[in-house]
Amino acid sequence: MSSPARRAAQLHTLLHDHSHRYYVLDDPSVSDAEYDALFRELQDLEDAHPELQTPDSPTQRVGAPPLAGFDSVEHAVPMLSLGNAFNREELIEFDRRVRERLERDEGTVQYVAEPKLDGLAISLRYEDGIFVQGATRGDGRSGENVTENLRTIEMIPLRLRTDQPPAVFEARGEVFMSHSAFAALNASMLEAGKPAFVNPRNAAAGSLRQLDSRKTAERRLSINLYGLGELQGIDTPPTQMAALDLLAELGFPVNPEIRLCDGIEACYEFHESIQLKRAELGYDIDGVVFKVDSLAEQRELGFVSRAPRWAIAQKFPAEEAQTVIDSVEFQVGRTGALTPVARLVPVFVGGVTVSNATLHNMDEIARKDIMIGDTVIVRRAGDVIPEVARVVLEKRGPNSRAIELPSQCPVCGSPVVNLGTEVKARCTGGLQCAAQRREAIKHFASRRAMDIDGLGDKLVEQLADADLIETVADLYTLNAEQLQSLPRMGEKSVGNLIKAIDKSRHATLARFLFALGIRDIGETGAALLAKQFGSLDALMQASEEELTRIDDIGPIAANSILSFFANPDNRAVVDALLAAGIELPATASAEVDTVLSGKTYVLTGTMSRFSRDEAKKRLQQLGAKVSGSVSSKTTAVFAGESPGSKVSKAESLNVPVLDENALQALLDSPEADPT
Ligand code: IVH
Repeated sequence: MSSPARRAAQLHTLLHDHSHRYYVLDDPSVSDAEYDALFRELQDLEDAHPELQTPDSPTQRVGAPPLAGFDSVEHAVPMLSLGNAFNREELIEFDRRVRERLERDEGTVQYVAEPKLDGLAISLRYEDGIFVQGATRGDGRSGENVTENLRTIEMIPLRLRTDQPPAVFEARGEVFMSHSAFAALNASMLEAGKPAFVNPRNAAAGSLRQLDSRKTAERRLSINLYGLGELQGIDTPPTQMAALDLLAELGFPVNPEIRLCDGIEACYEFHESIQLKRAELGYDIDGVVFKVDSLAEQRELGFVSRAPRWAIAQKFPAEEAQTVIDSVEFQVGRTGALTPVARLVPVFVGGVTVSNATLHNMDEIARKDIMIGDTVIVRRAGDVIPEVARVVLEKRGPNSRAIELPSQCPVCGSPVVNLGTEVKARCTGGLQCAAQRREAIKHFASRRAMDIDGLGDKLVEQLADADLIETVADLYTLNAEQLQSLPRMGEKSVGNLIKAIDKSRHATLARFLFALGIRDIGETGAALLAKQFGSLDALMQASEEELTRIDDIGPIAANSILSFFANPDNRAVVDALLAAGIELPATASAEVDTVLSGKTYVLTGTMSRFSRDEAKKRLQQLGAKVSGSVSSKTTAVFAGESPGSKVSKAESLNVPVLDENALQALLDSPEADPT
């Protein structure tokens, strides 16, 4: 090695060690001035020898030029969410289920108790020990590529602290903002005349989702790691405690409050004690996560839907405040359900100002004896909608009046029915009701449904207010001119939205069925139906008997499907969607092509003939895997205009780099596969 290269390597190690001690161990070994001198020496060296500036260099934390948007990244191992326990009984019930499944009649289960950090879940990917990619959780299957932003967080090692790095190592954890960083950020926001963030979690999310990572670099974000994703070339640790030790050993910050608990009683005690400490931690936590320690037992327990059976979050009791109910309005949901909402005299609770609270339904109003004009206690827990916990009856005055269920829908005037079998009254207007139509469109566009990027609830409201859309089918007839007429819709956002709508034309049948918002059909039900029937036609022709033959589709759900498709308004919308060019690839596994199975491709740069998503989808349809990062297992990299660092990575690993023509050739005749 030449001597500048040797010195650069030395400086890397020194600076990595110093920041690890400073940011992770909180035990600095040199003064700031000494650190700065070493840092400047490295910068000078890299200026003189640009080839020494590697992605894991400590100088690479300052932020990169702004991005146009975030790519999406598929998680090699899905990122799960957690079930909740709100009290001691629910925690004991969780332990009972765990023991039953593990057939543990006697003795205790070992649990790891971890503070539940209130931030954003992320995944960090290291290949051959180098940090190559970081992504948000997204919907659990794929998230946003926020590598450049994560790189600016000093607590994240740019390379693993080991001489024998595994081929692939994914660490999972939470990005959050400490109270002191939050206070400093809001002070500077206000000084700059900008609105302050409502809480540290929003501030962390906003900072991590900056397209300009130089901005992220200015925000003091923290991170703690608590889990593992894909591993290659390294044994999976036997327990969660061992996994946390491994993370710490490799240079990651692990929360110091974490404890091993022998049995559920010890877990409950941990919860009590951390709650007392909560205010002194210096960062927000919204509860405790308990995880079965043994990974063998975790595997045995498995998952339900998106949440593991081996872990649970015990949330802290909600925060409360006192205020007065000004009035009550009824909101109409997607399926017509009427929800009474109290308009409150604004009050600060749990870190935010609350001016609305849900009253759930008429039974709840009766049970809690709530009247308009009452003084009430409102409660807010985590992200959930604030609710009225109870009335302060001593303060009820002569002006309090009863809350009455309207007999007609407040939006469309259709009759409201109150079926004995349901707690909520419903508007019978169906798609005739503007409120139901709007909610149906919001649901249709949402991430788990058709996933139309950029089409959030607010924009749906604006589009509907401007009479540009009535039903979901109208989304597909929107043009640029119409969209540009809306406030805050520039050329670029309009272009992106049109692209996103267009992309949704190629959704899967499962997503489409979920997106239709058929009552009683959730994501899992939709996926089952898609798998069983393979096409929309087949499903629409199915009889009740054929429907209920599917596990998990009971008579109620079957009925909802039948009546959905029997309704002429719904049929008209479905027909219009199909006419608008929605294609629903059959999802039956037999019909997925397998010519390219076993191949893994990486796409980078801009292609002229297809978007990256299209190319990705078409490769996947042919059975190939498309990955967000290059490794020695990559079959080939397809590079368009201005490709990124993936090309040099591929070259260093001897992975072929091909151009758009080669990609076109491969898609045209995959059998002739040149890769
Ligand atoms: S484990 C297998 N551990 O909570 C379960 N999550 O409600 C995956 N969170 O998305 C999550 N602290 O954002 C886990 N110590 C911790 C956590 C934690 C915070 C968040 C995380 C996750 C959410 C699930």
